[in-house]
Amino acid sequence: MKTDFLVIGSGIAGLTYAIKTAKKYPEKKIIVITKANVEETNTKYAQGGIAGVWNDSDSFEKHIDDTIIAGDHLSNPEIVDIVVREGVERIKEIIAYGADFDKDENGNYALGREGGHSEFRILHHKDVTGNEIERALLSQAEKHQNIELINHCFVVDLITQHHLGFLVTKSTTDITCLGIYALNLHTNQIEKIISGITILATGGCGQAYRATTNPLIATGDGVAMVYRAKGKIENMEFIQFHPTALYEPGVSPSFLITEAVRGEGAVLRNHAGIAFMEKYDERKDLAPRDIVARAIDSEMKKAGTEFVYLDCRHLDKEKFLHHFPNIYAKCMDIGIDLFKNLIPVAPAAHYSCGGVKTDSWAQSSILNLYACGECASTGLHGANRLASNSLLEALVFAHRAFLHTVQLIDNDQLNQHPLYDSSLVPDWNASGTTDPKEMILITQSMKELKQVMSDYVGIVRTDVRLLRAMHRLDLLFSETEDLYKSSTVSPQLCELRNLITIGYLITKGAQFRKESRGLHFNTDHPGKSTVLQNIIL
Ligand code: FAD
Ligand code: SIN
Repeated sequence: MKTDFLVIGSGIAGLTYAIKTAKKYPEKKIIVITKANVEETNTKYAQGGIAGVWNDSDSFEKHIDDTIIAGDHLSNPEIVDIVVREGVERIKEIIAYGADFDKDENGNYALGREGGHSEFRILHHKDVTGNEIERALLSQAEKHQNIELINHCFVVDLITQHHLGFLVTKSTTDITCLGIYALNLHTNQIEKIISGITILATGGCGQAYRATTNPLIATGDGVAMVYRAKGKIENMEFIQFHPTALYEPGVSPSFLITEAVRGEGAVLRNHAGIAFMEKYDERKDLAPRDIVARAIDSEMKKAGTEFVYLDCRHLDKEKFLHHFPNIYAKCMDIGIDLFKNLIPVAPAAHYSCGGVKTDSWAQSSILNLYACGECASTGLHGANRLASNSLLEALVFAHRAFLHTVQLIDNDQLNQHPLYDSSLVPDWNASGTTDPKEMILITQSMKELKQVMSDYVGIVRTDVRLLRAMHRLDLLFSETEDLYKSSTVSPQLCELRNLITIGYLITKGAQFRKESRGLHFNTDHPGKSTVLQNIIL
């Protein structure tokens, strides 16, 4: 198969790019590939909303400051400026596509507030904002006949000149993406898709941890593929744990209790029923997430418990039911009437702040490969993401990738290296030919991986825990590579392999960072370095 534009991922980032490109070039084909049903994305599960400066009491400067403070001063100020200022126009575009955000009785947008925000600036659709955005984008995408949505097609690897027999190392300056190999789950065949431009929009990697808010698709495939292709990966140690996932033993992924509930006044309490956040930060329950998650972790460890409580009992019932009907229904479903009972909550892996290193036009270090959305590290989030900034970032960088690719195409500057003739790309060379004899080996290794990452590379880290994690990951890596070489490719095996790479990148980044900053907290290095540094692997 050959296409002008290949988009991997059907969440907010991938669909936004595809829609814009399809509109601009009605004669060109845009393929959007997704490994599951098209709507099964992290995007679909976003609750709180999308941050933007909407009224006069707010300002770009305030949103910029909040982002930089939450990011513990590691964000790239130029990128923060771009996202905050351009973001409002991008939100207006999805409103024009039909995304419906809640309004107040005066017809103004009803803005929510979350941790780290100094103003009410979160647009939302009840407590199911992501579902509404995904719906609007999919219905818009369906209007463009030149967008071909291919579901249940698992991208296994990027094709670079390595597949043509050229040596590619980390220091190769012109690594070029020529397309992908993908396992078509309808036919069980590996297909080769050659593309002019490839957009990676593969989302997050929360599945590397035992407790996560991320759906099953969030296995860091894009980041792992770029790492294997020798592209640059940045700041993977900054994994954000959401403070308030519903504590339900044995249930995975964890159901999120949006931070917007704390924005409306809900209070965290420990086992003794005491509100504890004021001990940790003057912003109390609305401190940035890294601080709240660490405070909860500390309270749980002191009491020897696996959860704390969120208290909503004092909140206005009518207002709550209007804004958070889904959360109310979920709690009722498991026997918690949140106007009478406390909600048990615990932190869960939620968001990857690092990822594929990109520039201000979403270009990765690999030619003709762009990355946007959660799989990218744009420089916006620094050491910790400000709540509801990720949907915004995805819109802004999908748009910037679009602008950049338009410029390349219109000026006939698409970087096709003369040596790398994509017509010579070989078919997939299946190294292994037998089905894995024991699926249990894959499921067991997956369990081990999550355990290692949760126990040793979680909210609080130490040097010895990181070293131990690395030893365990080494073993898992070599066992899984052996399995990969001898078996036919399956999504389960690929996801395991990718998550082991993600585990390695998180742990390696954490080992290199000899300080505690934002989401990375190492008790052996409690202070902050005076040198601001991004860890690039
Ligand atoms: P996704 O929406 O995750 O899409 C990834 C796509 O890539 C999927 O289609 C997937 O199938 C595809 N894919 C992945 N690997 C492969 C492969 N190997 N082959 C083929 N396809 C592949 N952010 C906010 O700003 N505000 C919020 O309120 C908010 N709430 C959240 C609540 C929850 C519960 C979660 C989990 C996240 C939340 N976030 C929120 C974060 C935000 O939703 C995500 O960062 C964002 O939606 C990511 O969008 P994306 O387009 O990058 O990726
Ligand atoms: C939430 O609704 O609390 C999640 C918001 C986010 O992750 O940005």
